[in-house]
Amino acid sequence: METVLSGIRSTGNLHLGNYYGALRNFIKMQEEYQCFFFIADYHSLTTHPNPHEMHGNVRNVLTEYLAAGIDPDKATIYVQSDVPEIPELYLLLNMHAYLGELSKTASFKEKARKQPENVNAGLLTYPTLMAADILIHNAHKVPVGKDQEQHLEMTRKFARRFNNFYQVEYFREPAAFNFGEDLLKIPGLDGSGKMGKSEGNCVFLADDAKTIEKKVKRALTDAGPTTPNSTKPDYIENLFTILKVVSTPEVVTHFEEKWNTCDIRYGDLKKQLAEDIIRATSPIRERIIDIQNNEAYLAKVTKEGAEKARISAAKTLREVREIMGFKKF
Ligand code: TYM
Repeated sequence: METVLSGIRSTGNLHLGNYYGALRNFIKMQEEYQCFFFIADYHSLTTHPNPHEMHGNVRNVLTEYLAAGIDPDKATIYVQSDVPEIPELYLLLNMHAYLGELSKTASFKEKARKQPENVNAGLLTYPTLMAADILIHNAHKVPVGKDQEQHLEMTRKFARRFNNFYQVEYFREPAAFNFGEDLLKIPGLDGSGKMGKSEGNCVFLADDAKTIEKKVKRALTDAGPTTPNSTKPDYIENLFTILKVVSTPEVVTHFEEKWNTCDIRYGDLKKQLAEDIIRATSPIRERIIDIQNNEAYLAKVTKEGAEKARISAAKTLREVREIMGFKKF
């Protein structure tokens, strides 16, 4: 059976981008693949989170993973820092990762621009840690949103380079994967680029109905089209992109037609959009409330997940060390 591996950084609550970009398909994949889903808490350290918030953040992502439908009896779900084989593989892979390529990565350049006072080595080697996450289980497929495509390409490059350097056919070259669909980029509500935790433009899975209505109402619009069949400005296209993932095709067609005939009323569009987001997220929100205080359940899931993940991780690390020439006295 093919192996699927994916992760979510523990830097805050999960939003619609995470859900439609990646998580929703994780839920389908756990039925057909051997799945490893983890919470990337080491990755969150690159932005120096408050230590008092670290555990709460991991707990939120874990709760929301489970509430969204990841089933620990079907998939292996674990916390990255519970698997020490990952940072060891990261160290080994770093010996074959070069400054030139790491500093050219789009995510590095963006973060270096955003946090010029904190351009740390973890930020630079973020793609190697991500490669270690994936290669530690020698995964075939990696479900991600469009924003992670370049990191996947680097993972393939590191895998190929390792194989070439040590003259082995050991690591697989993992493919980005969205269950047969194109990789998605869910936009934010502010008319700018993608929905993201650090952009302040998110609808969170844990948001209640009132909050969702308020956020959608505030989304940027304009006076409406004046020419039939005109091209939509980005901020309007973004609302349609979100509508396409939460609503039925009939609803989308209805508003497309209204747009094309210049009869669109943004108030109606927003009302429908908020309603459909609420319909999609409220069952998840209810389960979040159910699970979040169940200490015993969360402890059991992470303990069993780490045990399962470490069996697979230890095997890879043992073989990699052997290939690289380590021997016991
Ligand atoms: P992260 O935590 O930013 O996002 C988790 C997943 O959600 C997807 N995503 C989106 N998809 C579509 N539209 C959006 N607006 C949007 N925002 C987020 C991301 O593509 C991702 O699939 N580096 C990763 C975490 C990670 C990882 C890994 C992923 C660490 N190691 C190994 C896969 C494999 C990250 O920061 O994702």
